[in-house]
Amino acid sequence: MENMRKMSLSLVLLLVLSALLLPIQTLAHSTSNTGEPSLNPNRILNVAHRGASGHAPEHTLAAYELGEKMHGDYIEVDLQMTKDSVLIAMHDEKVNRTTNGTGYVKDKTLKEIKQLDAGSWFNKKYPEKANPAYVGLEVPTLEEVIRKFGRDARYYIETKSPEVYPGMEEELLRILNRYKLIGPNAPSSKVLIQSFSEESLSIVHSINPDIPLIQLISYSEPATITDEELDEIASYAVGIGASHTKIDQEYVQKVREHELLMHPYTVNTKEDMKKVLDWGVTGMFTNYPDRFNEVLRER
Ligand code: G3P
Ligand code: CA
Repeated sequence: MENMRKMSLSLVLLLVLSALLLPIQTLAHSTSNTGEPSLNPNRILNVAHRGASGHAPEHTLAAYELGEKMHGDYIEVDLQMTKDSVLIAMHDEKVNRTTNGTGYVKDKTLKEIKQLDAGSWFNKKYPEKANPAYVGLEVPTLEEVIRKFGRDARYYIETKSPEVYPGMEEELLRILNRYKLIGPNAPSSKVLIQSFSEESLSIVHSINPDIPLIQLISYSEPATITDEELDEIASYAVGIGASHTKIDQEYVQKVREHELLMHPYTVNTKEDMKKVLDWGVTGMFTNYPDRFNEVLRER
């Protein structure tokens, strides 16, 4: 009898404790049906654009590490493909801007890419942020990034210039599959694939539909979008990315009415971060994930 009373008391205590802790957990992470932590669907996403690239040379492991340290929710990775079909993390088709080399990625083997210094340019361009540790940093391959940060990280991967690299989507999905990073086709997934090319996104889904897509849109004028265009995008993607300088509140609200995520790029000042948050965005790309978290804390 005494034992029964103790067990009931423990059960009540456990229930009270769980009720107290639940709101704390749902603020940050919940648990997916695979038993792994998934982001709260209402969380405003902080995407470390090219890593914490306001602080360290873009698309280096150092920039991605800082992005994680600064509590970015996603590491953003732009992809180019070498002559020998290896996916590497780089924004431009040419290596000129972000390494000490010259020429197109498509004309270089991985071995040649690996000889480049992807950090010194940053020290020269931003002496106030220079760090001797950046000298001689390598251009990472996608696989190296995934091996380093593993399945605990989240990746927001862009197929860059897909028309230049036939087969890049197959190679991307081969790697994601190898590291069990595919699925579900929902915003909670560990990997979002983004592209300005609708065709590239369509190739991704033709290979494996179990992966969430973000349609990037480049506007040269102030952006407008019709309900028909949004219905069409919602038929294959979970969200839209567009420059915060071209969209406005009306655009964001329209996107949200179609239950699509809205992730503006690249939002770097506190003023702009507050502006797009007020418009109702669901996250943003920023070179300063630390600054964005400060803004979120201040609200
Ligand atoms: O992917 C979102 C944003 O990064 C697109 O612009 O040129 O920085 O890749 P870009
Ligand atoms: Ca990008």
